[in-house]
Amino acid sequence: MAAQHPSSSFPEYFKKLSTTYSRQTGDSTFNLIYSFLQHLPEDVTLNEQSIIHDNAAGPGTATIAAMSVLKKEPAKIVVTDFTQGMIDNIQSRINQEQWRNITASVMDSHELAFADDAFTLTICNVSTSTFKDPLKCVQEMLRTLQPGGVCINSQWKRFTVRDIIHKAQISIRPDSKLFNMPRAEFLNDGVLKDLMLEAGFAKADQYVETTIIRDDAIEGLREFMSGNFTASARSGWTEEEAAMWPAAIDAAIEEEKANYGGIKMEAWMVVARKAGS
Ligand SMILES: C[S@@+](CC[C@H](N)C(=O)[O-])C[C@H]1O[C@@H](n2cnc3c(N)ncnc32)[C@H](O)[C@@H]1O
Repeated sequence: MAAQHPSSSFPEYFKKLSTTYSRQTGDSTFNLIYSFLQHLPEDVTLNEQSIIHDNAAGPGTATIAAMSVLKKEPAKIVVTDFTQGMIDNIQSRINQEQWRNITASVMDSHELAFADDAFTLTICNVSTSTFKDPLKCVQEMLRTLQPGGVCINSQWKRFTVRDIIHKAQISIRPDSKLFNMPRAEFLNDGVLKDLMLEAGFAKADQYVETTIIRDDAIEGLREFMSGNFTASARSGWTEEEAAMWPAAIDAAIEEEKANYGGIKMEAWMVVARKAGS
């Protein structure tokens, strides 16, 4: 879960987050893709013949979701991310599970080291907004898909972490400069879908997926929002003001729970198809 502007040091940010990623995202990115893979649109194939690229995969979030749905290994899953810690994380899981058809490597999504037409399915789960050049990365997804291949690309629609942080800021300092997230335009209807079409995909359909983070999972998100990752939200504050931060985060979480029974996150899920059959 990215919460800094692209001009800041993203590699450092994700490196720090890699060891605690699942916990500090409240497993939200996993829940999102797992839920979507369980009820895929009819024209999308995920089966034992699938050759999958889990692109900018974090700790292999979509790979673990796909394995939870398939229950056995497909023909191939290739996991890539530019953060070594994320790849180390999924590599341990691969070793532990003794998966044979799943490999993981450090790779920049702007220049994928794969031949054209390599995959039947690419999944890029809530990562596109963190790329320096999202269009270039989506063009690489298109290039590396087989004709007729499908890309599932997702972006947050309701990024509640940001909303909770904003509420906490305003409750302590109403004049706060509101906490920023990279490329917030992706929250808007149609932006990701249009990017896929601009990159050259023949067709793109947009769906909405919802996940509600509950119980223990909220604790991980609370840690994320209360801690150093969100320090910029308190920049220039007095010690006294900063000391009020955890309680203000808690109050905003309680409000969200009262409304939705947990922290409700929503995402745009775009299913894009490469021309051909
Ligand atoms: C918000 S996380 C999402 C991770 C994962 N897809 C998930 O569903 O949990 C964004 C990920 O994109 C990776 N990333 C950002 N820019 C990248 C790039 N240029 N190439 C490869 N990975 C990148 C980060 O290291 C991070 O793991």
